[in-house]
Amino acid sequence: ETYALILAGGSGTRFWPLSRDAKPKQLLNLLGDTTLLNQTITRLEGLIPKENILILTNELQIDAVREVASELPKENIFAEPAKRDTAPAVALGVGLIAARDPGATMIVLPADQLIDDVANFHDVLTDAITTAQQTESLLTIGIKPTWACPSYGYVERGAPSALAPVGIKNIPHDVTCFREKPAPELAEKFIKQGNFAWNAGMFIWSIPTVVHELELHAPELAGFISQLMESDDIKATVADKFSKLTPISIDYALMEKAAHVLNIEASFDWDDVGSWVSVAKYLDDAEGDNKSNSPLKVVESHNNIIFTESKQTQVAMLGVSDLIVVQTGDSILIANRHQADDIKKLVALLPEEL
Ligand code: GDD
Ligand code: MG
Repeated sequence: ETYALILAGGSGTRFWPLSRDAKPKQLLNLLGDTTLLNQTITRLEGLIPKENILILTNELQIDAVREVASELPKENIFAEPAKRDTAPAVALGVGLIAARDPGATMIVLPADQLIDDVANFHDVLTDAITTAQQTESLLTIGIKPTWACPSYGYVERGAPSALAPVGIKNIPHDVTCFREKPAPELAEKFIKQGNFAWNAGMFIWSIPTVVHELELHAPELAGFISQLMESDDIKATVADKFSKLTPISIDYALMEKAAHVLNIEASFDWDDVGSWVSVAKYLDDAEGDNKSNSPLKVVESHNNIIFTESKQTQVAMLGVSDLIVVQTGDSILIANRHQADDIKKLVALLPEEL
């Protein structure tokens, strides 16, 4: 059987004041009518049955996640007892799935991306699932990079894999190097080299393959998985052991080290919506080169981004340029749009409750 594990426990400050600790990016209604988590679940319709979709989050977000994912079986939504980043979360997911079907294939999905082309998304994942079932490989999905973004992982795509199953359309390539969040100069070098793709943050593998690779490269996590598999009270084992795991992302803990990694290029659109500037791309043109989700009037103002929680607040700008302005019930952000990536510096100074 095939399972999906949705990782929905990230926090983030890039969308302050809309995002808060209990309401990070995946739970925001930034674009369209639903949250990014909701879109992630809906996108699996026709690919993975609802009983086989598991979501991992944390105590702060679990109520909101349960509400968004109300159509999934209750027992498929779990809160991690502590924040340990994605590698321990993936290990927990592997253990939970293995307890149901030790021979299963699984896909790991982030909960906070924008993908519209569901048909091609299904095609690519179906081919990745087939490859994971027939070979002992860890499958990644590659996005054609457009610039040297330092906040992604990079995969170096080699030759089409000799292991590629017959009959599949999206041919996996060998991965000669996986490098998580390279320094800007190195990312620049990768882009110039031309054979690198961004890692989409989705992973496809069989349970036996990922357990074997974790035994080789992340024994602490492999140990935790065997404790889960041997346990007759999984909840108690998680409560006892999870918080003791070393915080690290799956990209560093496993993907950079593993030898049997393959990559399929995404034939679908993909956006990780990393900041207010990326959200602005999707807002209707309000006035000239200003972007807004609310009624806007401007005089001699350019390149501003406006977002109000109500979507109905009248905004008026006079002689200002390059601003991000975000309004919620209790806060207003006014920032230079060229510093959108630094919002966390500001949030660090704010009172805890905001
Ligand atoms: N359950 C759980 N627990 N989920 C988590 C945790 C955790 O402790 N930490 C993060 N997540 C969730 C996030 O909510 C998100 O959906 C997903 O896991 C990925 O985590 P991020 O923290 O957003 O990772 P990233 O964006 O820095 O990097 C990853 O994604 C990039 C593409 O968006 C990496 O895989 C990169 O290589 C990749 O390019
Ligand atoms: Mg992310």
